Amino acid sequence: MTNEYLRKTAKSKTLYKRAKQFLPAGVSYGIRSFEPYPFYTARAEGSRLYDVDGNEYIDFWLGHTALILGHSHPTIVAAVEKQLKNGTHYGTPHELEINLAEQVAKIVPSCEMIRFTNSGTEANMYVTRLARTFTGKEKIAKFEGGWHGGYDALHVGVKYPFDIPESAGLTKGSLQDTVLLPFNNLEGVRAKLKNQQIASIIIEPVLGSGGGVPVETEFLKGLRELCDERDILLIFDEVITGFRLAPGGAQEYYGVTPDLTVLGKILGGGFPIGAFCGSREIMERVDSVAHKRPYYSFHGGTFAANPIAMTAGLATLKTLEDGRLIDGLNALGEKTRRKLSGIFESNGVDAQVTGAGSIFNVHFTKENVKDAIAASKADKERLLEYDLQLIANGVFFLPTHNGALSTAHSEMDMEKLFSETEKYAMQSS
Ligand SMILES: Cc1ncc(COP(=O)(O)O)c(C=O)c1O
Repeated sequence: MTNEYLRKTAKSKTLYKRAKQFLPAGVSYGIRSFEPYPFYTARAEGSRLYDVDGNEYIDFWLGHTALILGHSHPTIVAAVEKQLKNGTHYGTPHELEINLAEQVAKIVPSCEMIRFTNSGTEANMYVTRLARTFTGKEKIAKFEGGWHGGYDALHVGVKYPFDIPESAGLTKGSLQDTVLLPFNNLEGVRAKLKNQQIASIIIEPVLGSGGGVPVETEFLKGLRELCDERDILLIFDEVITGFRLAPGGAQEYYGVTPDLTVLGKILGGGFPIGAFCGSREIMERVDSVAHKRPYYSFHGGTFAANPIAMTAGLATLKTLEDGRLIDGLNALGEKTRRKLSGIFESNGVDAQVTGAGSIFNVHFTKENVKDAIAASKADKERLLEYDLQLIANGVFFLPTHNGALSTAHSEMDMEKLFSETEKYAMQSS
């Protein structure tokens, strides 16, 4: 199948060679690179990516899952075009940031106040600082397999085995205050937290890079209780699940409200964004006008609340607000997981299809995938082979990563995914 890919992507190969001269690995984010080389995108529309060689791909990666309405949705494009004429960046307060803040507060249960950042990583960095400010404690906890971006204190225990540092350049000092917890295992969490003073526990309600593994509702409720008992702030990293599992995110979907929430991706309607939000009482500690140094928790940024991102985000949230589109996507997600599982099963291929709502992920293993450890033990070579075969046939998943659905995916797009999976399963069984 690689031959087929090579045959179809000559211009991408040339661009890859050029890119490698100036961009490490030829890309701007390591995970975007795959063997033999990634295709280079020329344009995108609806459910499709088009590469520089003119190949068309049904896109289930959706810009790192950000594009729930698909590429270049007409409503978003029209709103942004209008805003472009009024300025691309102000660096002063403006009404658009108030509009988006009000909208998030209206639909996300934990949100009374919010601050905008430019990425999920940045939002996680600031929310961690805020949790430490509010509780007066230094240690924080995160889960095995949880991905919260590249901020040092949270860039730990992402990939199994968890004892290998995730990156060079992380100091012992930056990691010594981070406690690693087992996912979906409340007793394990209790054991790890014994005798520890913890400011916050941060959790992805559906592990993203950890394999599309959903949290068990009872576990999440137990975690909420434990945090209340121990005066620990519970933080949901809803950078993926926010505005995807439900208009109010995973907290609405699972019925468990965190103290603080981190948002990103969908919130920007296709433009760079992040945000952290929570109760007035906690968020007011960011207020550097009311609180003097060292009592406030600093947050800021040149492009924070960029008017284009605010505009695209608001248009997106308004489109999703009544929940009908999300309900439809969740039903399609359920069907997709069932269909893919059925295809592998009927062809005798050991595979687990995980996910929740409109997120899904395939693991070639017999074992039930309940956490990132089980996900990491699945056959990655086979997954890569499946992903590459699909790419060569016009169906794009970023190899080994979660798939996501958008309102732009048609029935024919889904049939193509199922028929290409069937072909793969038949030949590999
Ligand atoms: C759950 C989660 N948190 C945080 C991040 C980091 O966000 P960003 O890539 O915008 O910095 C990501 C990115 O994939 C994510 O999936």
